[in-house]
Amino acid sequence: MTSKQTELEKLAQIQSVALDALSGVVDLDALEAWRVTHLGRSSAVMAVFSSMGSIDKELRPLMGKAANEVRQALEAALEEKRQTLEAVALKQSLEVEKLDITLPGRPVTRGRLHPLTQVLRQITQIFGDMGFQVYPSPEVETDDFNFTYLNMPPYHPARDMWDTFYTTKDGVLLRTHTSPGQIRVMRARAPEPIRVILPGATMRYEQLSARSEIEFVQVEVLVVGKQVSFAEMKGTLDDFARRLFGEDARTRLRPSHFPFTEPSAELDVGCFVCNGEGCPVCKETGWLEILGCGMVHPLVLEYGGYDPTIYSGFAAGMGVDRSTLMRYRIDDIRHFRNNDVRFLKQF
Ligand code: PHE
Repeated sequence: MTSKQTELEKLAQIQSVALDALSGVVDLDALEAWRVTHLGRSSAVMAVFSSMGSIDKELRPLMGKAANEVRQALEAALEEKRQTLEAVALKQSLEVEKLDITLPGRPVTRGRLHPLTQVLRQITQIFGDMGFQVYPSPEVETDDFNFTYLNMPPYHPARDMWDTFYTTKDGVLLRTHTSPGQIRVMRARAPEPIRVILPGATMRYEQLSARSEIEFVQVEVLVVGKQVSFAEMKGTLDDFARRLFGEDARTRLRPSHFPFTEPSAELDVGCFVCNGEGCPVCKETGWLEILGCGMVHPLVLEYGGYDPTIYSGFAAGMGVDRSTLMRYRIDDIRHFRNNDVRFLKQF
């Protein structure tokens, strides 16, 4: 038989052990473990309750009351600790997630269009306003389209005007100009009238320099119909030049030669740098060449499927790179394809 004194001491002991352990609990997980150990079904307090039967009858109420007090004390301590720990946890999560709304934002950098694309779009817009359509044509061409159908049969010396990249496949090359597209659009449209531009990349086997690249962009212009005249060509190209370079841009048409046009000419605009006085950029002439043009050669019309006794047409080919250099006074054509952001950011 146990004495009342010993039983009460045991309860006090249970309480102090549990509270001791509670003071070492630092987070909510450990608190739950503490609850299971000290208040759970197999805890020491609970064992006191289940052993009540073996206690002296007179002692039972006293012991029951004492055990209840211990359990309530532990539960109260548990609750208090839970509140403290929850407050700490909340504070920590606020620390971690805190947002400094006074920090300046990260700059969002925007991309921009390449200067060549910008000028190409302006050119397309101008011709679009004049009623021209855009007609796509391939960058890899056959010898026939690039030369033969443009009145340069095999072994014709005029082919030397274009330094050509040939492929390993016989008769296949990288187009040296957009003119082969003339034949393609004519064959697709004959005998309907045509008013198109053909923009795109062209390739030449050139020595790289400030003025020449192996890849550049051209825009071909083609008009075919009944009674299309040289005067219409001049009017169209003059108008175009003024829309692209400004109302007071001066132009001149200079006789030239291309195998696929007859007669042929080149269009110059007054030099922007020296205003026609003469400077290194225009090689002291006061003029800058922007395109080649002429009346479509009868043989070329025929290759395209048009009867040259009924139809006539004019064509022009301009270098977009050259025009862009002039518009923005860029000193070296190689900047365009270097992908140097310091250059590209300026446009
Ligand atoms: N294809 C010629 C060139 O690349 C330009 C041109 C086009 C000339 C159309 C006349 C007519 O140089």
